[in-house]
Amino acid sequence: MRTMKLFFVSALVLLVGTTLVAQPKPWVVPDSFKSMKNPVAQSDASTKAGLAVFTKNCASCHGKAGLGDGVKARTLKDFPGNFSKTDFQSLADGDIFYRTKTGRGEMPKYDGKLSDDDIWNVVNYMRTLKK
Ligand code: HEC
Repeated sequence: MRTMKLFFVSALVLLVGTTLVAQPKPWVVPDSFKSMKNPVAQSDASTKAGLAVFTKNCASCHGKAGLGDGVKARTLKDFPGNFSKTDFQSLADGDIFYRTKTGRGEMPKYDGKLSDDDIWNVVNYMRTLKK
């Protein structure tokens, strides 16, 4: 009887656990960021600068192509996201800027670590990862 009970409790924990993991909680992004205009125009110079920032700071988790498969990704609890997908690419520039600047959980906060211009460069770079 005890093992049965233990079995059902474990099954329940597993079920709730996987449901939570399968549905990432939505980000709460202020409207002031969503409607923010990207002050750094998309250009070769900007995406090149963004690539350098991305390779140095982001690729270890997000993967070179932003698929969420960096070497560190498998040690993370949360999936870092797939930047090649329409879901991600349909976010406004200011929204991606906000997520990068403030972070949450295992996603580091880059406010104070990267200049705003570099965050916009990396936003411009992430646009090139669209499939
Ligand atoms: C230590 C690992 C790690 C590093 C380094 C990292 N990230 Fe993340 N990132 C994550 C994780 C994990 C998430 C998912 C967080 C969540 O959903 O709560 C995430 C989420 C994001 C998101 C939101 C994705 C979405 O689909 O909503 C953006 C944008 C992002 N990261 C950009 C960056 C950028 C740009 C850098 C480098 C400047 C970077 N990250 C560095 C782990 C990392």
